[in-house]
Amino acid sequence: MGGLPFTRPLRIIKRFSPRAPATYKIDFALYIEQISLLVEVMFMLKHRLMSGCAVGIAMLSCLLALTSFVQAQSPTSALNDPKIEARVNALLGQMTLQEKIGQLVQYSAGSPTGPGTGRTDYPDMIAKGGIGSLFNLTGAREVNAMQKIAVEKSRLHVPLIFGLDVIHGYRSTFPVPLGMSATWNPDLIEKAARIAAVEASSEGVRWTFSPMVDIARDARWGRIVEGNGEDTYLGQAMARAYVRGYQGTSLTDPTSILACVKHYVAYGAAEGGRDYNTVDISDRSLRQVYLPPFRAAVDSGAATVMSAFDDLQGVPASANPYTLTQILRGEWGFRGFVVSDWNSVGELIPQGVALDPAMAARKAVTAGVDMDMESNSYATTLLQEVKDGRVPQSVIDEAARRILRVKFAMGLFEHPYADESKGAITTLDPAHVAASRTVAEESFVLLKNDPVSGSPVLPLASGAKTIALIGPLADSANDMLGSWSTKGDAKDVVTLRKALSDRLAQSQGKVIYAKGTDILTTSDSGFAEAVSAARQADVVIAALGEDAGLMTGEAGSRAHLDLPGNQQKLLEAIAATGKPVVLIVFSGRPLILNWEAAHIPAILEAWFPGIQAGPALVRTLFGDVNPSGRLTTSFPRAVGQEPLYYNAMNTGRPADGVDLTRPPSNAAEKFRSRYIDEQNSPLFPFGYGLSYTKFQYSTPSLSAQSLAAASLNSGASALTVSAEVKNTGSRAGSEVVQLYIRQRGTSVTRPVRELKGFQKITLAPGESKKVEFKLGREEFSFWNIDMKDVVEPAQVTVWVGPNSTEGSEAHFTIN
Ligand code: NOJ
Repeated sequence: MGGLPFTRPLRIIKRFSPRAPATYKIDFALYIEQISLLVEVMFMLKHRLMSGCAVGIAMLSCLLALTSFVQAQSPTSALNDPKIEARVNALLGQMTLQEKIGQLVQYSAGSPTGPGTGRTDYPDMIAKGGIGSLFNLTGAREVNAMQKIAVEKSRLHVPLIFGLDVIHGYRSTFPVPLGMSATWNPDLIEKAARIAAVEASSEGVRWTFSPMVDIARDARWGRIVEGNGEDTYLGQAMARAYVRGYQGTSLTDPTSILACVKHYVAYGAAEGGRDYNTVDISDRSLRQVYLPPFRAAVDSGAATVMSAFDDLQGVPASANPYTLTQILRGEWGFRGFVVSDWNSVGELIPQGVALDPAMAARKAVTAGVDMDMESNSYATTLLQEVKDGRVPQSVIDEAARRILRVKFAMGLFEHPYADESKGAITTLDPAHVAASRTVAEESFVLLKNDPVSGSPVLPLASGAKTIALIGPLADSANDMLGSWSTKGDAKDVVTLRKALSDRLAQSQGKVIYAKGTDILTTSDSGFAEAVSAARQADVVIAALGEDAGLMTGEAGSRAHLDLPGNQQKLLEAIAATGKPVVLIVFSGRPLILNWEAAHIPAILEAWFPGIQAGPALVRTLFGDVNPSGRLTTSFPRAVGQEPLYYNAMNTGRPADGVDLTRPPSNAAEKFRSRYIDEQNSPLFPFGYGLSYTKFQYSTPSLSAQSLAAASLNSGASALTVSAEVKNTGSRAGSEVVQLYIRQRGTSVTRPVRELKGFQKITLAPGESKKVEFKLGREEFSFWNIDMKDVVEPAQVTVWVGPNSTEGSEAHFTIN
């Protein structure tokens, strides 16, 4: 039953969700299902809540669920199709309990991306209907061989889903995600994700474990490289872009791959930046900072979610009914399925909330983890758990229903096989390569560009005849691929050395290459050769940074954030020659670059740029393209500042106006929120990045001096902010125009600045453009003292500018 216009509740929905579309088609059976889920949630919470309060919350939750349910009706989502639901129910009706449990089981069948289970009897298990998904297996033929067993040999012919970590491209590797986020260009990210989907699906992969949308405020955490940085608003925009790109317009499109938004949730807030570590944050931070990018992905139709490794507020994320059921399904109306992270179900045992695999499986599945990645506990224990009455059969039914729903929505039952006749896209399509280069070019952040002998070092004059290229990353194809480049191939990478040599060969110039040092060594045996190369050159390019595999990504946490090994020493030796030096930093995180920033005239942060690292860098160095990347994480001055992020709360004793470059010399300077031995500010702030041209901003103008909280809450009004941005330099360039707000006088503290809008614009020399932002409920609302997401009366400061520390301001009142 579907397609009935649903007008009366719609008015209520619009009150609570002004962004909801004007008309909907609602299926009542599904709506009833949503309500029953909420009743289940309330039942689950009954021990925690007093009964009166429970009724109130139940009513509110029902309304919220209805709201989110209605919002989830997007053209890209087949997860709400009643015809599919009927097929799921019919299939479930034929399945044995054992077969249902089989759907909840997933193993890695190719190169492992974690410690293995030692199992190899997958074909046998599949034939018995004992596996729902395999991952790490690629190649249409390989995938089809397994699928054939599922489709032809298993009793009910239920197809498998094949997954893989397609994180920043498939074969055509793009920059690492942190670099992609530095483009501040969601449209470009969507295109990159689409290309990844086209390539991956040609090899039978229909599910990626991406996007990783964990907010990361601590540069020590190795996995900061996999996400979009420290900001929630930007993280939401990027989350939507990835989902749109991967899934395309319909899950049934053979080039559509399921998105899996991860790691749910707050994994990035690991204490001390140490991977897999405890997370103990407030519920307000959870909802305000960490959850919104997940919500954005879910609202964009993300079909799957991955539960994380962390212990969140004392309850492991992979056994957390509050986040997995109450919020994700109850409040947001998520209709896809949740897969655990690699053995995160098994890890409930060392975490201490489970004594054995059976208890781990019970806790995870009842909390809302539908599919068990690689722990083997669902496969081996759930049958008995249900038989003994410790796990309700309905929990298994529901988990299997969610997985089957996605399989039907993908059209897998009709088209289970990858198309072997077309041939996989394993040779690089020139359009994909070009896209990778464009993304890399937009990801580079120019951190410094001081004049040497009167003019900025960059861009290099095309007449630069002899260039010394020094450093362990100048010719390291493997590192350019970055972490999680599962199918990336070093053979496809054009390194900086290769691209620079090609470029200079065209103008009869010369590259003198010297590695100088390895990334991690104490030996300075290569220094002399490097210094001699520098002496012979007109300009030196130093390519330094991190080892992508060892130091970034999963299990890549670092306690020290300087250039590793003796690279700084090498740089000092090169700089001592007096030759102009351009430092290119390859890293998966913000590094501490104090000495570098003080002594090297030009610094370009390049992240790990992917297969087109060399050409993208050379085009940038010579000014064929103008750098337009902006930082999405704060670069610290010292490890002791971490976690470091721009949108912090003000303290009661801010250090404004105090000179923090020296120790306090009186009580007024001392009793402040400060370090006695370091400044509070980052070396390079969030949003920062230079260009080869200059931009000038007007003071922002506002469409109103004040607006009522009630009308903002209902969506009846919004503020328009506009500013004129002018390219005052002599080159064309792109600027990321950023809008920040601060709200004061509110029931809870609000950050000193919060990003609430951005636009990347391109201006010719002398050109100016009026940039407009609309700020409404989404931008002004926050989780208030009653833990309600509302707009409150406030005094608001609005900045429009080039980064999180600059820009001119205007003022506005919400009353
Ligand atoms: C563990 C990682 O945490 C996760 O991001 C990844 O998707 C899985 N392994 C599968 O490889």
